[in-house]
Order: sequence, then structure tokens, then C-alpha cells
Amino acid sequence: MDLLVVGSGFFGLTIAERAAAAGKKVVVIDRRSHIGGNAYSQAEPETGIEVHTYGAHLFHTSNETVWEYVNRFTSFTGYVHKVYSNFKGEVYPLPINLGTINQFFRASHGPDAARALIAEQAEEFDTKEAKNLEEKGISLIGRPLYEAFIRDYTSKQWQTPTTELPAEIISRLPVRYTYDNRYFSDKYEGLPVDGYTAWIEKMADHPNIEVRLNTDFFDESQPLNKKDVVGKVPVVYTGPVDRYFDYAEGELGWRTLDFEQEVLPTGDFQGTSVMNYAGADVPYTRIHEFRHFHPERDYPTDKTVIMREFSRFATREDEPYYPVNTPEDRERLLKYRALTDGETGVYFGGRLGTYQYLDMHMAIGSALSMYNNKLEGTL
Ligand code: FDA
Repeated sequence: MDLLVVGSGFFGLTIAERAAAAGKKVVVIDRRSHIGGNAYSQAEPETGIEVHTYGAHLFHTSNETVWEYVNRFTSFTGYVHKVYSNFKGEVYPLPINLGTINQFFRASHGPDAARALIAEQAEEFDTKEAKNLEEKGISLIGRPLYEAFIRDYTSKQWQTPTTELPAEIISRLPVRYTYDNRYFSDKYEGLPVDGYTAWIEKMADHPNIEVRLNTDFFDESQPLNKKDVVGKVPVVYTGPVDRYFDYAEGELGWRTLDFEQEVLPTGDFQGTSVMNYAGADVPYTRIHEFRHFHPERDYPTDKTVIMREFSRFATREDEPYYPVNTPEDRERLLKYRALTDGETGVYFGGRLGTYQYLDMHMAIGSALSMYNNKLEGTL
């Protein structure tokens, strides 16, 4: 074995694929029973509808290198992501755009008038002096739109009133002064034609790659564990950085999500893939309806799969999804970074290994950079 990769998400698999293509023998371990990390998906057994097990995953990128690379393993559909928000029983398009503004204010403003209206409403607070997320939100888009679409949704995400959340959580709130409600503005966008798992399996399908599932790097009863491997074989580690050091500098904070999946006896529940629920009256943040991600597929016309999403702070036993990133977290992270620098032969990467939210294209892009800049010459 020339390289051990801990974690079979997009970061780990990209490293493994590149090393294997260069003739190196790679073993990939994952403590889960499947590969693919959080991008894993599977067919719901009753309907055959592809469900993204760890939350909806939409691929988008403007990075030419990443786009060329991912197209070696899958082709992409023409899916264009759009999100709607249910506020007090009325449905509005997101991100906030001219359509949202005109529907909300019962108006027919052109771009200039809408811009002037929002600027006037946003005067209540100065962005630079905002003391909490609420003041920052109002300073960016004005109180009416903030209270409708941001306040309760964000409080639900963080289980904390926005008056008690730090202003830094949001840097900007996009408002579009056109009717364009395309969610992403990247050059390339789409979903893998045969699903995420087929894409992921193709990346791992190489005679130089061996995948071992249900294998935890910290389980000393299995042969490829931290104690026995580090210092002997190069390791790319994509698990949580605090766990690697046995939480020596304390735990880094994460938010997690709970999902409630249901098969409903209708061919179409909500007419779109993602509906946000902006108000405090509903405990979940959004509902995904997976059939809408693949309108080109032959799915049953009398059944559909929906997933309600709930957000909360993660405990050590939960799946870590989004870094909380408080000032204490950032201080701890610096201490962990100092520790990683001293760990010879171990390369920390991916969203858990670096404690940062990474979209798929970013995880793949940073893995390609790590391979080219740090591993290629040393393996
Ligand atoms: P990932 O978490 O995928 O993989 C890490 C792997 O390491 C896991 O399989 C884990 O089991 C394994 N591991 C951890 N500890 C281990 C141990 N001790 N021993 C062995 N294995 C261990 N991106 C995007 O582009 N569009 C989108 O729409 C979304 N949507 C989205 C929704 C939600 C809810 C989340 C949380 C994330 C997204 N993403 C996304 C981001 C996407 O999931 C992310 O880019 C990839 O998961 C990053 O891949 P990694 O390999 O870094 O981590």
C-alpha cells in the first residue's frame, strides 16, 4: 500500500483516484457502510425515486478544471435549481428577486424603484455597526423582507433568536433586481444522469483502489488504525480534525440535520424540488421532493417521496453537517492547525478535516490541488 485514505467522500475519492491513476496502490477506509460520504444517494425501495440520504445535493461549478474532471465519471442533466418559500400560506420565489418584492409589496416596481425601496427600508441600521444578526439583516434588505424570509428561518436553523446570533453569520443577503430566480449562478450546473452513487462508484472503480467499509480509523482492533499506520504509510485524513487529536483542544461546534422521509400516495406533492418554510409556525425548515430533481426519469405517477428537514446543534454522536464557527471555534481551529502541522505524513483535507463548509466542487477542487501540490511528488 502506498497511501491510506480515511473517508470515501468526494475529497478522499478524488485523492484516491488520482494516486491510483498514477500507479499507486491505495486503500480507502470509511466507517460508514457505503462510499461517497454525504453525497451518497439511494433508490427509495417502494418508488425507485433517488433520495439524497444526507440532504439534497445539487452540483454546480464555474471551475473548468473541476468540470472537466467530474465529466470523466458521469454526465450531467440540464437540471437548474430553483427554491420557493412558503410564508404565511403564500409561496414566493427565492433568492429574493423582483418577483418576490413585487408579490410581497403588491406592486409592479421596475428594478430602479425596487432598489430605492429596499435602500430606504435598509436605512434603519448601519451594516458596519450591526450588533447582531437581526440588525445586520435589516441593514441589508430592510425590516419587512428580513422579518418575512430571514428571521424565523434563521432562528429555526440555529435554534437561537436572531437577536442573539452574531452579525458575522451573514456577510450578505442576495437581492436580485430581475425576475431571475435561478438559485446558483455558476457556469455549469446539473445532476449526475445515473445518480450520485453511480458517479462515486466509478471514481473508486480502479484495480489500484481497495475500499474497506465499516472500518473506523480509530478502532485499534482493525489493522489500518491510526496508532499502527501513522508514520509508516502516508495518510490522507478527511474525518473530523478534533477527533483525530482526541479532542485535545476541545470540541469544534457543528450543526446537524434530522430528516423525516415519507412516501405519499400522489404523483406530485408540491410541484417543485425544494420548498422553504419561512415561518416559526412550522418546525421544519424545508421540504424536499426528490422526483423533481429528475423530471427526465420514468418515476411512478401515483407516488412521491418527500423529506422534511429539521436543523439543530450536533452532539458528538450526530453527523456533523455545518460548522458553527463561533469565535471560540475559530480559536480552537488555530490550535488544531498547529497540531496538524506537526503531524508528519498525514494530510488533512475535506470539510471535516479542515472544519469548513465545502460544496462538492470545492472539495474536489481542493483535493486536486492537494494531490498536485503535496502528494504527487512524494508518494
Ligand atoms: P464527506 O463528509 O462527504 O466524507 C467524509 C467521510 O469520512 C465520510 O464518509 C465519513 O464516514 C468518513 N469518516 C469520518 N471519520 C472517519 C473515521 N474515523 N474512519 C473512517 N472514515 C471516517 N455540496 C454541493 O456542492 N451542493 C449541494 O447541494 C450540497 N448540499 C449539501 C447538503 C448538506 C446537508 C450537507 C451537509 C452538505 C452538502 N453539500 C453540498 C456539501 C457536500 O456534501 C460536501 O462537499 C462533500 O460531502 C465534501 O466531501 P468530503 O469528502 O470532504 O466529506
